[in-house]
Amino acid sequence: MIISSNSRSKISRVDNIRRLKHKEKIVMLTCYDFQMAKIFSSVGIDLILVGDSLGMVFQGDSATKNVTMKQMLYHVHAVSKGAGNLPIVGDMPIHSYENKDIALENAQRFIEAGADAIKLEGYFPDTISYLVEHSIPVQGHIGLLPQTYSSFKVVGRKAEDQERLLAEAKDIEQAGAFTMVLESIPEMLGKEITESIEIPTIGIGAGRFCDGQVLVINDLLGMDPAFHPKFVKRYANLFETIYQSVSAFKQDVKNKTYPDKEHVYE
Ligand code: KIV
Repeated sequence: MIISSNSRSKISRVDNIRRLKHKEKIVMLTCYDFQMAKIFSSVGIDLILVGDSLGMVFQGDSATKNVTMKQMLYHVHAVSKGAGNLPIVGDMPIHSYENKDIALENAQRFIEAGADAIKLEGYFPDTISYLVEHSIPVQGHIGLLPQTYSSFKVVGRKAEDQERLLAEAKDIEQAGAFTMVLESIPEMLGKEITESIEIPTIGIGAGRFCDGQVLVINDLLGMDPAFHPKFVKRYANLFETIYQSVSAFKQDVKNKTYPDKEHVYE
């Protein structure tokens, strides 16, 4: 297969992330739009995830089960325009990787839309190695799998589940994934997996010992006061800020104090 210089630079951006293991913690955040991507680029985080969590925080569904390829590609493309040099991982939505050939076709569409890599949920080592053979960098994702779960819960408390998840992590590494998201697992299992594989683990609700951390940006910013699971640290209360700002605008317009003289064209 001929690898273009564009795909070569995408692969090296992703290789840089792999090299951060044992050196520094990896910072990944979800992102769904151009302006947020520009902010992430100026801060200089390590990795952007255009997550299918957009089905919940952007589209208002209660799960990620209805997200389509078309929607994902739309957001990846928007994010790619603001991301500068930050590597972008596109999250493959449910039903987009049901067999190896469908997965490859859809992964290539992600790359064409501006992603550097794709993420897929669950234990699919054959699909991962097939994508990697075709020069698509892949991020694995084990633990809680939102595309197929029935309710939110910590996964991997039972010994048999711990053994299974550890074995899955090793196989996914072997298949060629460059990083792996660990979602909602006990901290000690996150530590064991992290110490047992050579690719970086990126945790969300997986404790302090992962090689990196990811959060859904809306959760970090405090956009939804009703959603506050234990693993989320809120760094802002944007719900309150936006609520106050919109209320003030409403009042100004009703009271005819906006627009004022300074806001009008002569
Ligand atoms: O879709 C998403 O935002 C994710 C993260 C929770 C890792 O998969």
